[in-house]
Amino acid sequence: MLLRCDLNVPLDGTSITDDGRIRASLPTIERLRAAGARVIVLSHLGRPEGTPDERFSLAPVAQRLGELLGVVVGLASDTAGTSAHASVVKMTDGDLLVLENVRFNTGETSSDVEVRRRFAQELATLGDAYVSDGFGVVHRKQASVYELAELLPSAAGLLIETELRVLERLTVSPERPYTVVLGGSKVSDKIGVISHLLPLVDNILIGGGMVYTFLAAMGYKVGGSLLESDQIETCQRYIAEAREQGVNLVLPSDIVVGAAFAADTEHRVVDADELEDTPFGASGIGLDIGPQSSEVFAQYIRESRTVFWNGPAGVFEMAAFANGTRAIAQALATMHGLSVVGGGDSAAAVRILGFDDSAFGHIATGGGASLEFLEGKSLPGLEVLGWP
Ligand code: 3PG
Repeated sequence: MLLRCDLNVPLDGTSITDDGRIRASLPTIERLRAAGARVIVLSHLGRPEGTPDERFSLAPVAQRLGELLGVVVGLASDTAGTSAHASVVKMTDGDLLVLENVRFNTGETSSDVEVRRRFAQELATLGDAYVSDGFGVVHRKQASVYELAELLPSAAGLLIETELRVLERLTVSPERPYTVVLGGSKVSDKIGVISHLLPLVDNILIGGGMVYTFLAAMGYKVGGSLLESDQIETCQRYIAEAREQGVNLVLPSDIVVGAAFAADTEHRVVDADELEDTPFGASGIGLDIGPQSSEVFAQYIRESRTVFWNGPAGVFEMAAFANGTRAIAQALATMHGLSVVGGGDSAAAVRILGFDDSAFGHIATGGGASLEFLEGKSLPGLEVLGWP
């Protein structure tokens, strides 16, 4: 049984800094093993360039999987070569084997469908059925996600089912009030989701690096803060559309501005329309939403029955600029209703800030995949399984 997971976890050298994606993959692995399957796990890690690269080896992942399950987990040193075949032959019922990073093979991410198909055919010789459970990668048309599913009898795993059930609750008759909190660095990454969700939601709260382009769209000076000048008009359009549709598009009223992009930089809290009004002048950089805005955002969240959050409110990796993100996480953790933390940076943020996964209704394992779903795009890895 070939099982595609997304075990693309953050690493510091060979140490896993957040094993959330591995833990989220366990229910399907355990279900398959309990049914007597010989489970061959496929995954990517990072973005190696189609060739083996030790920095992206799945060895630490296989080891962690073994620790979490309390079993011996084999690791093949290639994806579909002699090591993979030799390891598969030795498997008995209930055994678990991880193949090396599928992106060590150029066929995985090739833009040429024939090249992808050839790699998928090699993988298909290792098993007789395929389960797709790598939710974080279903938006990618890649060999082990798409072409492999065409070659073998296929089904979705439990993680994909869970993720889709939650995403559907965010798009079909969500309980109200419904609030979407968006942060992260780029407006251009979130345009699709803003335009698709605008008619559905009651409130959109904007923080993170993308806020400065919105503030510029309001006519404010933003000093040395992150700015996407080519998105200013788009932001103006969304501000106008939100007003027309009766959606509260909430921007922070105060900002923490620093002299430089550094953890120990001097910083001040200022009103959002006075970003250059500090000793740092036009070189000051907005690094977090201010305390007043954090309280307003938290209030909106606590009064909501459905909240989707994607993207930190500030540079949470630096303690001095983590307060906005912490306030949002805290409000999500205490609200009544469905709280969903989008994948990627927001999932990492809640764990780094010490929140327990169980404090939230759901932590998505795929940032890009969740956003593309919420943008209403069709996701190749789901489409190939016959969904929707
Ligand atoms: C992710 O981290 O979002 C997924 O694992 C997909 O990785 P990718 O963006 O490198 O395709």
